[in-house]
Amino acid sequence: MNTLERREFLKSGLQGLGITVCSGTILTILSSCEMNEDPMQPDVKTFPVFISLDDPANQELNRIGGAMYYNESSLNNGEDFIIIKVEAEKFLALSSFCTHQGCQVNIPSSDKPTLFCPCHFAEFSPMTGEVIKQPNQGSATNLPVFNTEYDAINNRLTVYLPGNA
Ligand code: FES
Repeated sequence: MNTLERREFLKSGLQGLGITVCSGTILTILSSCEMNEDPMQPDVKTFPVFISLDDPANQELNRIGGAMYYNESSLNNGEDFIIIKVEAEKFLALSSFCTHQGCQVNIPSSDKPTLFCPCHFAEFSPMTGEVIKQPNQGSATNLPVFNTEYDAINNRLTVYLPGNA
């Protein structure tokens, strides 16, 4: 049984038992299901974080272009990350910290549709996290992007964040 099959097996087992648990508990249960789908970072382990888009707190992610900050304290060094709904069933999850000098970037808005850094005015693509405007001094690189999976049947997004076992 591979990692994805094991995760689905555990998930269906929990659902079959009618158990409702928070993402932190699921995270603990599934901690052995870490994935690493980034061939560029072979030593970085990732762990799933589950986000229900039926939860009223996440309603912003039910519209294309919607974006929110999130935090999973035990992962990603406890740093905020951003999720953007880029297409009907496609999401972008990425670091919220500017690669220039570490300021937190703004999520897209009607005034500024890019990921905008207020410190030195770098801008990043809300579709890919790529730099589209360099800061007014020095240079920035693309924002780190995290793998995602969208389950349309359950309207649930899984984000794989870096962490330590
Ligand atoms: S820290 Fe973001 S542009 Fe300088």
